[in-house]
Amino acid sequence: MLVLIYFLIIIQPYLYIASITIQDPGDIIDTSKDTADNAIKANYNVMPVMYLLSPLQATSFFNGTQSSSWISHQTFSATANDTNVIVVGNGAQLNLSFVNIVKTGYSSNLLQASFFGVNAAINIQNGSRVFFDHLNVTTHNGAANLYSYGNGSYAYVENSFLYSSGPAAHGLYAGGYGTVVGKNIAHYSGGNRCSSFAGDSPAGYVTISDAIAHTDGIGSATFYALGTITATNVIGYAANAPALFSDGRQISVFTNCDLTAGLLAGTVMFSSMIRQQGAMLNITNSRLTALGNTMPGLWFGNVIATVYLYNTIINTASNILVTANYSQVTQDFNYYAGYPDNPNLLPAVVTINVVECALTGQLIAYNGSSINWIMSQYSTWNGNAYSGYGNSYISISLDSTSIWNVTGNTMLQNLTTSNNSLANINSNGYNISYDSNSTMNSWLNQTTVSLTGGGKLMPAIPGQSVITTTQVTTSSAKQQTPSHSISIFSVPKIFILHLFSIKILIFLFFH
Ligand SMILES: *[C@@H]1O[C@H](CO)[C@@H](O)[C@H](O)[C@H]1NC(C)=O
Ligand SMILES: *[C@@H]1O[C@H](CO)[C@@H](O)[C@H](O)[C@H]1NC(C)=O
Ligand SMILES: *[C@@H]1O[C@H](CO)[C@@H](O)[C@H](O)[C@H]1NC(C)=O
Ligand SMILES: *[C@@H]1O[C@H](CO)[C@@H](O)[C@H](O)[C@H]1NC(C)=O
Ligand SMILES: *[C@@H]1O[C@H](CO)[C@@H](O)[C@H](O)[C@H]1NC(C)=O
Ligand SMILES: *[C@@H]1O[C@H](CO)[C@@H](O)[C@H](O)[C@H]1NC(C)=O
Ligand SMILES: *[C@@H]1O[C@H](CO)[C@@H](O)[C@H](O)[C@H]1NC(C)=O
Ligand SMILES: *[C@@H]1O[C@H](CO)[C@@H](O)[C@H](O)[C@H]1NC(C)=O
Ligand SMILES: *[C@@H]1O[C@H](CO)[C@@H](O)[C@H](O)[C@H]1NC(C)=O
Ligand SMILES: *[C@@H]1O[C@H](CO)[C@@H](O)[C@H](O)[C@H]1NC(C)=O
Ligand SMILES: *[C@@H]1O[C@H](CO)[C@@H](O)[C@H](O)[C@H]1NC(C)=O
Ligand SMILES: *[C@@H]1O[C@H](CO)[C@@H](O)[C@H](O)[C@H]1NC(C)=O
Repeated sequence: MLVLIYFLIIIQPYLYIASITIQDPGDIIDTSKDTADNAIKANYNVMPVMYLLSPLQATSFFNGTQSSSWISHQTFSATANDTNVIVVGNGAQLNLSFVNIVKTGYSSNLLQASFFGVNAAINIQNGSRVFFDHLNVTTHNGAANLYSYGNGSYAYVENSFLYSSGPAAHGLYAGGYGTVVGKNIAHYSGGNRCSSFAGDSPAGYVTISDAIAHTDGIGSATFYALGTITATNVIGYAANAPALFSDGRQISVFTNCDLTAGLLAGTVMFSSMIRQQGAMLNITNSRLTALGNTMPGLWFGNVIATVYLYNTIINTASNILVTANYSQVTQDFNYYAGYPDNPNLLPAVVTINVVECALTGQLIAYNGSSINWIMSQYSTWNGNAYSGYGNSYISISLDSTSIWNVTGNTMLQNLTTSNNSLANINSNGYNISYDSNSTMNSWLNQTTVSLTGGGKLMPAIPGQSVITTTQVTTSSAKQQTPSHSISIFSVPKIFILHLFSIKILIFLFFH
């Protein structure tokens, strides 16, 4: 499948839409031959062992600080299970130019693959440094293209072509505090849980520029942040995943990117274990598109996060810009978790700074979650905000240059405007109710004020909490069973039987 970019060329008074087709490795290699491979689901029911079970196996081993090599115009391959094509270990240096790497053979243990790079085509370990250009790495049966593991490990990859089929076969992948830097990369993966550019526990540092990335599998995002992701000039198309999964206190910075997501949301930020504080996402001069008709642009669950949007477009078919929820994703990566999946969840607390943006869509907070929406520098927002379930908290702030065009009745915990002016709120006949008991709104003196466009700004009706649901208009905003009312004793027997795997889900989340 091709990735298309649409450029709007406005030549008054006509509007032309020109499209440019960009090829990814999935167009060059016949993916239909890999259908069976791509149907294999990653098996995450493995015993959690946090060390390398047995020494790495590889067809070519470059080892130790005395090892320094430069190789060009060769082909390396491996066919055995749990075997790397190339391992660069213990401070070795390796440069490759115009090298083909072909890897087949299965991974028997997702944890060993995720945390140590077992079965990856190329595995850079323990402070080794590599500089690669013009690689062609193709893997089948579930093997990452390149893994960088360990403090001081550094992999630089440019002008390279990366293809994988099979499960848990990421493109450029770093774990154990390793670093990978990619420039001019074309990536395709067809399998389950094969993100293009990924970090893994405890952290991986991933920097990508000038790349095209296409994933087709469930759980296969363009970016998976565990550590940091820095991406510039990346076109990403994740057919069955968000553009970003960010698990815990991670930092993702996207500049000049065009990212399209086909499942869950445009971006998904969560904590797989206890709720983490300090997750960050910056998106500058970019476009994020969420294709599905219930998918929000930005989704948050069980996390405390801050987002900066600068001159960025978010397109959603759902008309939902932001969801903040008492939830997270599961190891299946295809639905939002509820209490039976993880009873340790907490609501999302999200601050979104909107700068120089024109955005359209709703903000929905669920079950104790909060959204703090701060608009500045000539930003405009066409939208409304409400609670999807139970008590939620929505705070809206506008500077003197920003405009809120209200598209539905909205209930707020906190309204802040420049000089207490309401002139930048265009009500379109809709009402905004505010929590008159909140000191944040004391400037409103508990009064009802007429807004431009016929609507009113008014105290929430006495007896009715400002934070209660007023309207539920979209299909994705369906009512939830209050999570806290389910006790462990009411959980079905089948759940008890699965307690062991549930524990893994809670304490050990890997991709
Ligand atoms: C790699 O080098 C280390 C020392 O740097 C040594 O302990 C280890 O045995 C070597 N491994 C292989 C497979 O040569
Ligand atoms: C590998 O490439 C780097 C960066 O270009 C260079 O500094 C280093 O000397 C090269 N090493 C070898 C062994 O060619
Ligand atoms: C990297 O270090 C770990 C921990 O010391 C060790 O288990 C592993 O074998 C090393 N990797 C290589 C390629 O030697
Ligand atoms: C390699 O793994 C596959 C899939 O698990 C298995 O069918 C095959 O027997 C394994 N091969 C060997 C030599 O163990
Ligand atoms: C990379 O190698 C595969 C075969 O392993 C080949 O089909 C593909 O065309 C190559 N890609 C490029 C860009 O040459
Ligand atoms: C590796 O790096 C991490 C993060 O910077 C640090 O916490 C850890 O102590 C380092 N480990 C070693 C063995 O240097
Ligand atoms: C994100 O953007 C904000 C506002 O420009 C900036 O203060 C912050 O340092 C940025 N964070 C990162 C990690 O780049
Ligand atoms: C919200 O979270 C609940 C679990 O608390 C989950 O069942 C539901 O699918 C989530 N909905 C969205 C839109 O995130
Ligand atoms: C404001 O919202 C109304 C109602 O949805 C819409 O008709 C109008 O076009 C919007 N105005 C702007 C400037 O986007
Ligand atoms: C209300 O919004 C303002 C402006 O964003 C912020 O400074 C303040 O902390 C918010 N108060 C609460 C209680 O959320
Ligand atoms: C609230 O009262 C203060 C002091 O009397 C006044 O300056 C302000 O304009 C009033 N605000 C509104 C929204 O009426
Ligand atoms: C504000 O507080 C008063 C007194 O505690 C209470 O009667 C009223 O319902 C509250 N209003 C809201 C909107 O919570």
